Amino acid sequence: MDQSYHKPVMADTVVDLFRPIPDGIIVDATYGGGGHASRIAEDLGRDVLGIDRDPDAEGALRGNFRDLARILEEQGIDRIAGILFDLGVSSHQLDQPERGFSFRKPGPLDMRMGPDAATEAGTLVNTLSERALADLIRRYGEERFARRIAAAIVAHRPVADTTELAEIVKAAIPAATRRSGGHPARRTFQALRIAVNEEMEALREGLDAGLSALEPGGRCVVISYHSLEDRIVKRRFAEGAQGCTCPPDLPVCGCGRTAELRILTRKSLTADPDEVAQNPRARSARLRAVEKVAA
Ligand SMILES: C[S@@+](CC[C@H](N)C(=O)[O-])C[C@H]1O[C@@H](n2cnc3c(N)ncnc32)[C@H](O)[C@@H]1O
Repeated sequence: MDQSYHKPVMADTVVDLFRPIPDGIIVDATYGGGGHASRIAEDLGRDVLGIDRDPDAEGALRGNFRDLARILEEQGIDRIAGILFDLGVSSHQLDQPERGFSFRKPGPLDMRMGPDAATEAGTLVNTLSERALADLIRRYGEERFARRIAAAIVAHRPVADTTELAEIVKAAIPAATRRSGGHPARRTFQALRIAVNEEMEALREGLDAGLSALEPGGRCVVISYHSLEDRIVKRRFAEGAQGCTCPPDLPVCGCGRTAELRILTRKSLTADPDEVAQNPRARSARLRAVEKVAA
């Protein structure tokens, strides 16, 4: 395991969830430094196929998990026994100023998790209309001052780097609200990162592909770090776990719908306080898991 990636989040829970699955490959769709993958391989003696879109993730197959169906086909893999998604950026990516993810470190407005991303953050910041920028910051950052921030960015264009962007955002937010909720630029940076990497689209497509490749009894585990991701996961799992949707007074089922998934985590699981104390990244982690039901 590459130490610059820090500790894998909720690794004991991940390992326990994969313990009872049938034989076969486990896919780690977000390999990063291989922390989870090596725990799974060591504790369970399982074969793990690691995928990551970042060329820095050594030991992983380079690819975007939204292309999972194609990746598995190319590897000659038909069915998988488990799949893990540990979403978002890694601490390794955050710690490299030249990647542009951090509002605390000077760097270029890049934010691409891998070279497959179509745009850089700087292109969005310096070319989108004020309205489109405000929509993006509100939607992906859940930022209530999105309009003010977008207006301030447009007034200061061209924005050169992460430090300048962080300063512009900070100055655009009313002083009274600046003291709560972490760094004032956190939400704007999150929004840009999500847009640059098309994270929401990738998650929807990756989940669909992963769930359909699972064999009966196979499991999918997802760790998300903000509510937008968690909502997508929760809805997709609920949709797959829904059986017959006929009205209860109908004598026989007419819809023919059967549940594809069994939800293993009625409420999302969180890291325990000891882990959060040792690994601040675990604070916002929400873990959800499902099992594929026999057809
Ligand atoms: C939180 S880190 C994973 C850390 C890893 N679990 C470990 O223990 O070292 C998330 C990783 O997922 C990768 N990633 C994010 N979105 C991806 C996607 N759509 N396809 C492939 N990799 C992705 C990132 O490049 C990053 O390396």
